[in-house]
Amino acid sequence: MQTIGVIGAGQMGAGIAQVTAQAGYHVLLSDISKERAEAGKAGIAKQLERLVTKEKIDAAARDAALALIEPVDSVAAMAPCGLVIEAATEREEIKRAIFAEVGKVLGGEAVLASNTSSIPITRLAQAAPDPARFVGVHFFNPVPVMGLIELIRGLATSDATVTLVEDYAHRLGKKVVRANDAPGFIVNRVLMPMVNEACFALGEGVATIPDIDLACQLGLNHPMGPLTLADFIGLDTCLEITRVLFEGTGDPKFRPAPLLVKYVEAGWFGRKTGRGFYDYSGEEPVPTR
Ligand code: 3HC
Repeated sequence: MQTIGVIGAGQMGAGIAQVTAQAGYHVLLSDISKERAEAGKAGIAKQLERLVTKEKIDAAARDAALALIEPVDSVAAMAPCGLVIEAATEREEIKRAIFAEVGKVLGGEAVLASNTSSIPITRLAQAAPDPARFVGVHFFNPVPVMGLIELIRGLATSDATVTLVEDYAHRLGKKVVRANDAPGFIVNRVLMPMVNEACFALGEGVATIPDIDLACQLGLNHPMGPLTLADFIGLDTCLEITRVLFEGTGDPKFRPAPLLVKYVEAGWFGRKTGRGFYDYSGEEPVPTR
């Protein structure tokens, strides 16, 4: 398996394509258009350039990785891939449509993996060409920095599929944890209640945005406070995952904080929209409350 398909050239897909190429695989990168895939590759080129400037890699390694990334018109080009990783928008109908398309060309041995952060793998597998060759492979943002991959098997996922994806993850230099197909898997099951609770604390006037963040950053030795992290992940994504936890378990402890809902309703999704708990329009982020 030397050619790997990556569907989605946004933040996660581009990160996955970058680390996959740096591990020596040939990568076919697709998005809704060839232009979007090309833009994803241009972003990867910038990331690799930063690594050269910091003397983490040399120019030859940068060029080798870039040469291995091939933007393609559509998922119809993924026929040569032994593994295809879907990292498209976190909407089930979009993912299902992609699986139907890629299913038309996927080889009889090839594995299809989804980078979904919360949609049940067993349910998604129903839209895949073969549920035995379908698995969840959950990367973390920023992909080149974060050392973990969560591997989630659906009810029908075969042992051979798990082994193939585990070998791939190890070749990237990532540590692998295996999670069952339960809402939020491991990391988001633990992380999102913390983010959600920080939103409750803010809404109830327990402390200011910077103090909640500083308290958790220094008091827990986390690299970012929970509200900064929520802005980094995207408040829409945080709300979506919290809803999956709430609806998937039926447990009221996971109910979304009203303030988080309000921010999402306002279109304040965090860094990607320029405003969330902080305003990102200036040099430095400024708290919005
Ligand atoms: N892409 C690639 N590299 C990046 C990067 C990016 N977007 N952002 C930062 N880096 C690198 C920097 O180049 C630097 O590398 P170096 O140490 O080799 O020089 C290193 O990361 C540290 O960066 P900085 O010094 O600029 O800044 P920080 O020390 O503040 O680190 C951070 C930035 C790595 C993002 C750190 O704050 C962090 O780890 N934050 C928490 C991230 C996290 O929790 N991610 C998981 C989110 S949950 C998730 O993804 C699941 C999903 O389903 C929601």
